[in-house]
Amino acid sequence: MSFEKRIVVTGGAGFIGSHVVRKLVLNYPNYQIINVDVLTYAGNLENLVDIDQKANYVFEKVDICDQEGISNVFAKYNVNGIIHLAAESHVDRSISDPLAFIQTNIVGTANLLNCAVAFWRNDFTDKRFYHVSTDEVYGSLGDEGFFLESTPYDPKSPYSASKASSDHLVRAFGHTYGLPIVISNCSNNYGPNQFPEKLIPLFISNIVAKKDLPVYGKGENVRDWLYVEDHAEAIDLIYHNGENQETYNIGGENEWSNINLIKLLCTEMDSVLNRESGENEELISYVKDRAGHDFRYAIDCSKIKHELGWSPKTRFEEGLIKTIKWYLSNSEWVENIKSGEYQAYYKAQYESR
Ligand code: NAD
Ligand code: DAU
Repeated sequence: MSFEKRIVVTGGAGFIGSHVVRKLVLNYPNYQIINVDVLTYAGNLENLVDIDQKANYVFEKVDICDQEGISNVFAKYNVNGIIHLAAESHVDRSISDPLAFIQTNIVGTANLLNCAVAFWRNDFTDKRFYHVSTDEVYGSLGDEGFFLESTPYDPKSPYSASKASSDHLVRAFGHTYGLPIVISNCSNNYGPNQFPEKLIPLFISNIVAKKDLPVYGKGENVRDWLYVEDHAEAIDLIYHNGENQETYNIGGENEWSNINLIKLLCTEMDSVLNRESGENEELISYVKDRAGHDFRYAIDCSKIKHELGWSPKTRFEEGLIKTIKWYLSNSEWVENIKSGEYQAYYKAQYESR
């Protein structure tokens, strides 16, 4: 069967990547979607069981840092597009193990760029290298203001510095070699299949187990939350309609201080779990702050709204309920994860706080 486009999605077994893979596989039966993922602790092929038998889906277990492995994928599938999501993605892990972030996020991205230029060198027509990045590259806001595409980079954690570095490499390859690149920088995602080290799935899981909810510092830090399927829709749109060499900010227009979000989660889960009103809030426990904790992120997404017609669709309360229900009805998925190296991570991360 010959496919109109052959697109590699890196990190397709992870949280956002699996939603992107599913959307592309189902929306475009005439495209071949090649999921390239090395399956770190965060990669889980169970995320894709509903679509992994489709004729236009294929999985390749390859490390993005492996030059031969990536070159082979390009040649085997005659790849003409990349949507690059593979990364080390958790800020707390970047504080305890920064070098893993340098390796995957910087060296891995450089390797993908280098392989793309080598494989496509003679013809960039109909080619695209789409790099999925984060709003954290812009640094930390005070009470006022928003991140624009023109906001100067000011990353403050090893994670955000490694993502900023990868963004610079992508732009440099676009400028130097004429590689047709596009970048998006998105705010905090939430939804089904997120690894329970991140705030929302971790706290859902702890509420179910009646465990402490470890709020960093005073819980006053602010994040702008976007439902993962809205992000996947933006990625689909940018891949197809975004301008070469451009950057698009993606956000939920949905700012919450951590403590207000956590209280909402507790209240919603009191009712879903038939607990007394206020019972879950008693689990809140203020713990030592994250080192270098960015105070506030907030995205101005007017460019993608005006130029590509995208806007966040899912109301937060609706998305949060959908997410809670997904975790409650997929307890096996959560338990499988928690039976692995997660126990050791949890102990190291929270026991001495
Ligand atoms: P995730 O941690 O859930 O998934 C990352 C995936 O990448 C996993 O499947 C993992 O196995 C794979 N991977 C890691 N190292 C690899 C390597 N060397 N080779 C091949 N595969 C490798 O991450 P996520 O939250 O889904 O984030 C995906 C992307 O989106 C990242 O680039 C992240 O920076 C970006 N992003 C995330 C958010 C968010 O809120 N989660 C927001 C904005 C941007
Ligand atoms: O802004 C986009 C970024 O959002 C992505 O690039 C990252 O990949 C993603 O992990 C996320 O980063 P954050 O650090 O904002 O997400 P996290 O879920 O780890 O934390 C959200 C907020 O909650 C943050 O202010 C820290 C706080 N927190 C987190 C955890 C895990 C707690 O108070 N307690 C916790 O146990």
